[in-house]
Amino acid sequence: MSADDAGPAPIPFTLDGRALDARPGETILSAAARHGIAIPHLCAADGLAPAGNCRACVVAIDGERTLAPACCRTPAAGMQVQLETERVRKAQRLVLELLAAETAGAVQKPDSELTHWQQALGVTSTRFAARMQPPADASHPAIRVALDACIQCTRCLRACRDVQVNDVIGLAARGHDTRIVFDLDDPLAASSCVACGECVQACPTGALLPAREAVSVAERVVPSVCPYCGVGCQLDYHVAGQRILRVSGRDGPANHGRLCVKGRFG
Ligand code: FES
Repeated sequence: MSADDAGPAPIPFTLDGRALDARPGETILSAAARHGIAIPHLCAADGLAPAGNCRACVVAIDGERTLAPACCRTPAAGMQVQLETERVRKAQRLVLELLAAETAGAVQKPDSELTHWQQALGVTSTRFAARMQPPADASHPAIRVALDACIQCTRCLRACRDVQVNDVIGLAARGHDTRIVFDLDDPLAASSCVACGECVQACPTGALLPAREAVSVAERVVPSVCPYCGVGCQLDYHVAGQRILRVSGRDGPANHGRLCVKGRFG
Protein backbone atom coordinates (compact mmCIF):
# COMPACT_ATOMS: atom_id res chain seq x y z
CA MET A 1 0.00 0.00 0.00
CA SER A 2 1.39 3.43 -0.85
CA ALA A 3 1.32 6.35 1.57
CA ASP A 4 -1.51 7.89 -0.48
CA ASP A 5 -3.68 4.78 0.02
CA ALA A 6 -3.39 4.93 3.80
CA GLY A 7 -5.85 7.82 4.07
CA PRO A 8 -5.49 10.96 6.13
CA ALA A 9 -3.24 10.57 9.16
CA PRO A 10 -4.87 10.48 12.61
CA ILE A 11 -4.41 13.58 14.74
CA PRO A 12 -2.64 12.93 18.07
CA PHE A 13 -3.87 14.74 21.17
CA THR A 14 -4.12 14.00 24.89
CA LEU A 15 -7.12 13.79 27.22
CA ASP A 16 -6.21 14.03 30.89
CA GLY A 17 -2.69 13.11 29.85
CA ARG A 18 -3.71 9.98 27.97
CA ALA A 19 -2.53 9.81 24.38
CA LEU A 20 -5.44 9.55 21.93
CA ASP A 21 -5.93 10.17 18.25
CA ALA A 22 -8.75 11.70 16.27
CA ARG A 23 -9.76 10.96 12.74
CA PRO A 24 -9.85 14.00 10.48
CA GLY A 25 -13.09 15.87 11.18
CA GLU A 26 -13.80 13.90 14.32
CA THR A 27 -14.75 15.93 17.42
CA ILE A 28 -13.16 15.60 20.85
CA LEU A 29 -16.42 14.01 22.04
CA SER A 30 -16.46 11.37 19.30
CA ALA A 31 -12.75 10.62 19.48
CA ALA A 32 -12.97 10.20 23.26
CA ALA A 33 -15.99 7.90 22.92
CA ARG A 34 -14.15 5.78 20.36
CA HIS A 35 -11.40 5.34 22.95
CA GLY A 36 -13.92 4.40 25.65
CA ILE A 37 -13.99 7.75 27.46
CA ALA A 38 -17.48 9.14 28.11
CA ILE A 39 -17.87 12.91 28.15
CA PRO A 40 -21.31 14.18 29.27
CA HIS A 41 -23.40 15.36 26.33
CA LEU A 42 -27.06 16.02 25.63
CA CYS A 43 -27.56 18.03 22.45
CA ALA A 44 -25.05 15.94 20.49
CA ALA A 45 -26.20 12.69 18.89
CA ASP A 46 -24.89 10.39 16.19
CA GLY A 47 -26.19 11.35 12.77
CA LEU A 48 -27.06 14.93 13.75
CA ALA A 49 -24.97 17.99 13.00
CA PRO A 50 -23.46 19.45 16.18
CA ALA A 51 -25.44 22.32 17.69
CA GLY A 52 -23.33 23.07 20.76
CA ASN A 53 -26.25 24.49 22.70
CA CYS A 54 -26.42 22.52 25.97
CA ARG A 55 -22.80 22.93 27.13
CA ALA A 56 -22.91 19.69 29.11
CA CYS A 57 -19.80 18.55 27.23
CA VAL A 58 -17.41 21.37 28.08
CA VAL A 59 -13.72 20.53 28.49
CA ALA A 60 -10.62 22.60 29.17
CA ILE A 61 -7.98 22.97 26.49
CA ASP A 62 -4.51 23.98 27.63
CA GLY A 63 -3.71 27.52 26.53
CA GLU A 64 -7.35 28.53 26.05
CA ARG A 65 -9.09 30.91 28.45
CA THR A 66 -12.63 29.53 28.16
CA LEU A 67 -14.00 26.02 28.30
CA ALA A 68 -14.82 24.48 24.93
CA PRO A 69 -17.72 22.24 23.86
CA ALA A 70 -16.23 18.82 23.08
CA CYS A 71 -19.05 18.10 20.63
CA CYS A 72 -18.03 20.99 18.36
CA ARG A 73 -14.23 21.14 18.69
CA THR A 74 -11.95 18.98 16.60
CA PRO A 75 -8.55 18.25 18.12
CA ALA A 76 -5.44 19.84 16.67
CA ALA A 77 -2.18 17.92 16.70
CA GLY A 78 -0.65 18.09 20.16
CA MET A 79 -3.74 19.59 21.79
CA GLN A 80 -3.97 18.87 25.52
CA VAL A 81 -7.55 18.45 26.70
CA GLN A 82 -8.62 18.21 30.35
CA LEU A 83 -11.84 16.55 31.53
CA GLU A 84 -11.22 15.47 35.11
CA THR A 85 -10.62 18.86 36.66
CA GLU A 86 -12.68 20.63 39.31
CA ARG A 87 -13.35 23.55 36.97
CA VAL A 88 -14.68 21.34 34.17
CA ARG A 89 -16.77 19.10 36.38
CA LYS A 90 -18.21 22.12 38.21
CA ALA A 91 -19.27 23.68 34.90
CA GLN A 92 -20.83 20.42 33.71
CA ARG A 93 -22.69 19.97 37.01
CA LEU A 94 -24.00 23.54 36.82
CA VAL A 95 -25.46 22.85 33.36
CA LEU A 96 -27.15 19.70 34.64
CA GLU A 97 -28.43 21.56 37.70
CA LEU A 98 -29.93 24.30 35.52
CA LEU A 99 -31.59 21.64 33.39
CA ALA A 100 -32.97 20.01 36.55
CA ALA A 101 -34.76 23.30 37.24
CA GLU A 102 -35.87 23.48 33.63
CA THR A 103 -37.49 20.05 33.86
CA ALA A 104 -38.64 20.17 37.49
CA GLY A 105 -41.57 17.83 38.05
CA ALA A 106 -41.41 16.32 34.57
CA VAL A 107 -41.53 12.57 34.01
CA GLN A 108 -38.31 11.41 32.37
CA LYS A 109 -38.30 8.32 30.15
CA PRO A 110 -36.60 5.23 31.65
CA ASP A 111 -33.50 5.69 29.50
CA SER A 112 -33.36 9.48 29.87
CA GLU A 113 -29.92 10.77 28.98
CA LEU A 114 -30.45 13.76 31.26
CA THR A 115 -31.10 11.48 34.23
CA HIS A 116 -28.11 9.35 33.27
CA TRP A 117 -25.68 12.26 33.29
CA GLN A 118 -27.17 13.82 36.42
CA GLN A 119 -26.64 10.55 38.25
CA ALA A 120 -23.17 10.11 36.78
CA LEU A 121 -22.10 13.56 38.02
CA GLY A 122 -23.98 13.39 41.32
CA VAL A 123 -26.51 16.13 40.56
CA THR A 124 -29.42 15.28 42.84
CA SER A 125 -31.04 18.69 43.42
CA THR A 126 -31.10 22.19 42.02
CA ARG A 127 -30.64 25.63 43.54
CA PHE A 128 -32.64 27.28 40.77
CA ALA A 129 -36.32 28.10 40.43
CA ALA A 130 -38.46 25.92 38.21
CA ARG A 131 -39.67 27.47 34.99
CA MET A 132 -43.30 27.89 33.96
CA GLN A 133 -44.02 24.58 32.23
CA PRO A 134 -45.77 24.44 28.85
CA PRO A 135 -49.01 22.40 28.82
CA ALA A 136 -48.89 18.84 27.48
CA ASP A 137 -50.15 18.24 23.93
CA ALA A 138 -52.09 14.97 23.69
CA SER A 139 -53.60 15.76 20.30
CA HIS A 140 -51.65 13.19 18.32
CA PRO A 141 -52.59 9.50 18.30
CA ALA A 142 -48.97 8.30 18.01
CA ILE A 143 -46.74 10.88 19.71
CA ARG A 144 -47.10 12.28 23.21
CA VAL A 145 -45.73 15.81 23.64
CA ALA A 146 -44.75 16.77 27.19
CA LEU A 147 -42.54 19.81 26.87
CA ASP A 148 -42.08 20.08 30.63
CA ALA A 149 -39.32 17.52 30.04
CA CYS A 150 -37.84 19.52 27.14
CA ILE A 151 -34.32 20.93 27.49
CA GLN A 152 -34.36 22.75 24.12
CA CYS A 153 -31.44 20.71 22.87
CA THR A 154 -32.99 20.84 19.36
CA ARG A 155 -32.22 17.21 18.58
CA CYS A 156 -35.87 16.77 17.52
CA LEU A 157 -35.67 19.86 15.37
CA ARG A 158 -32.51 18.69 13.61
CA ALA A 159 -33.89 15.17 13.19
CA CYS A 160 -37.06 16.56 11.62
CA ARG A 161 -35.34 19.19 9.47
CA ASP A 162 -31.98 17.71 8.56
CA VAL A 163 -32.56 13.94 8.65
CA GLN A 164 -36.17 13.53 7.50
CA VAL A 165 -36.32 16.93 5.73
CA ASN A 166 -39.87 17.50 6.99
CA ASP A 167 -39.17 20.80 8.77
CA VAL A 168 -42.22 20.66 11.02
CA ILE A 169 -40.42 21.46 14.29
CA GLY A 170 -39.06 24.88 15.18
CA LEU A 171 -37.97 26.98 18.16
CA ALA A 172 -40.25 29.85 19.15
CA ALA A 173 -39.83 32.79 21.52
CA ARG A 174 -36.61 33.92 23.14
CA GLY A 175 -34.53 33.39 26.24
CA HIS A 176 -36.30 31.75 29.15
CA ASP A 177 -39.52 31.41 27.11
CA THR A 178 -37.89 29.49 24.25
CA ARG A 179 -39.93 26.43 23.37
CA ILE A 180 -40.33 23.79 20.72
CA VAL A 181 -43.30 24.36 18.38
CA PHE A 182 -44.85 22.49 15.46
CA ASP A 183 -45.38 24.58 12.33
CA LEU A 184 -46.92 27.87 13.51
CA ASP A 185 -47.31 26.72 17.13
CA ASP A 186 -50.05 24.27 16.13
CA PRO A 187 -51.09 21.19 18.13
CA LEU A 188 -49.02 18.31 16.80
CA ALA A 189 -52.03 16.56 15.26
CA ALA A 190 -52.98 19.71 13.36
CA SER A 191 -49.47 20.29 12.06
CA SER A 192 -47.87 18.94 8.89
CA CYS A 193 -46.16 16.16 10.90
CA VAL A 194 -46.07 12.82 9.04
CA ALA A 195 -45.47 10.88 12.28
CA CYS A 196 -42.17 9.32 11.23
CA GLY A 197 -41.18 9.53 14.91
CA GLU A 198 -37.61 10.57 14.18
CA CYS A 199 -38.07 13.31 16.80
CA VAL A 200 -39.17 10.71 19.35
CA GLN A 201 -36.04 8.68 18.68
CA ALA A 202 -33.85 11.77 18.95
CA CYS A 203 -35.33 13.15 22.19
CA PRO A 204 -32.92 12.58 25.12
CA THR A 205 -35.44 13.10 27.93
CA GLY A 206 -38.97 12.00 27.04
CA ALA A 207 -40.49 15.33 26.00
CA LEU A 208 -41.48 13.43 22.84
CA LEU A 209 -42.55 9.84 23.35
CA PRO A 210 -44.73 7.19 21.75
CA ALA A 211 -48.28 7.93 22.92
CA ARG A 212 -48.82 4.43 24.29
CA GLU A 213 -46.61 2.74 26.86
CA ALA A 214 -44.50 5.85 26.94
CA VAL A 215 -42.59 5.39 30.17
CA SER A 216 -42.81 1.62 30.67
CA VAL A 217 -39.51 -0.17 31.13
CA ALA A 218 -38.67 -2.75 28.47
CA GLU A 219 -37.52 -6.17 29.65
CA ARG A 220 -35.66 -6.95 26.47
CA VAL A 221 -34.84 -5.59 23.04
CA VAL A 222 -35.51 -7.83 20.04
CA PRO A 223 -33.77 -6.93 16.76
CA SER A 224 -35.86 -7.48 13.66
CA VAL A 225 -36.73 -6.21 10.19
CA CYS A 226 -39.79 -4.09 9.50
CA PRO A 227 -42.48 -6.27 7.89
CA TYR A 228 -44.41 -3.48 6.15
CA CYS A 229 -42.71 -3.01 2.78
CA GLY A 230 -39.74 -4.31 0.84
CA VAL A 231 -37.20 -1.67 1.86
CA GLY A 232 -35.92 -3.83 4.71
CA CYS A 233 -35.49 -1.26 7.48
CA GLN A 234 -33.91 -2.75 10.56
CA LEU A 235 -35.53 -2.05 13.91
CA ASP A 236 -35.56 -2.97 17.58
CA TYR A 237 -38.71 -4.07 19.39
CA HIS A 238 -38.69 -2.98 23.05
CA VAL A 239 -40.70 -5.71 24.73
CA ALA A 240 -42.20 -6.38 28.18
CA GLY A 241 -43.80 -9.80 28.59
CA GLN A 242 -45.52 -10.54 25.30
CA ARG A 243 -46.17 -6.86 24.56
CA ILE A 244 -44.26 -4.55 22.25
CA LEU A 245 -43.85 -1.27 24.13
CA ARG A 246 -42.20 0.73 21.40
CA VAL A 247 -40.04 0.43 18.30
CA SER A 248 -36.78 2.18 17.49
CA GLY A 249 -34.70 2.19 14.34
CA ARG A 250 -31.53 0.10 14.16
CA ASP A 251 -28.57 0.89 11.94
CA GLY A 252 -29.10 -1.13 8.77
CA PRO A 253 -27.99 -0.63 5.18
CA ALA A 254 -31.46 0.47 4.06
CA ASN A 255 -32.36 2.84 6.89
CA HIS A 256 -29.31 3.78 9.01
CA GLY A 257 -31.51 3.88 12.11
CA ARG A 258 -34.44 5.72 10.50
CA LEU A 259 -38.03 4.50 10.34
CA CYS A 260 -41.29 5.75 8.86
CA VAL A 261 -44.68 5.93 10.55
CA LYS A 262 -45.52 2.32 9.66
CA GLY A 263 -42.34 0.81 11.05
CA ARG A 264 -42.31 2.87 14.22
CA PHE A 265 -45.99 3.04 15.11
CA GLY A 266 -47.78 0.61 12.80
FE1 FES B 1 -21.88 19.66 23.40
FE2 FES B 1 -24.46 19.92 23.97
S1 FES B 1 -23.32 18.11 23.79
S2 FES B 1 -22.95 21.50 23.71
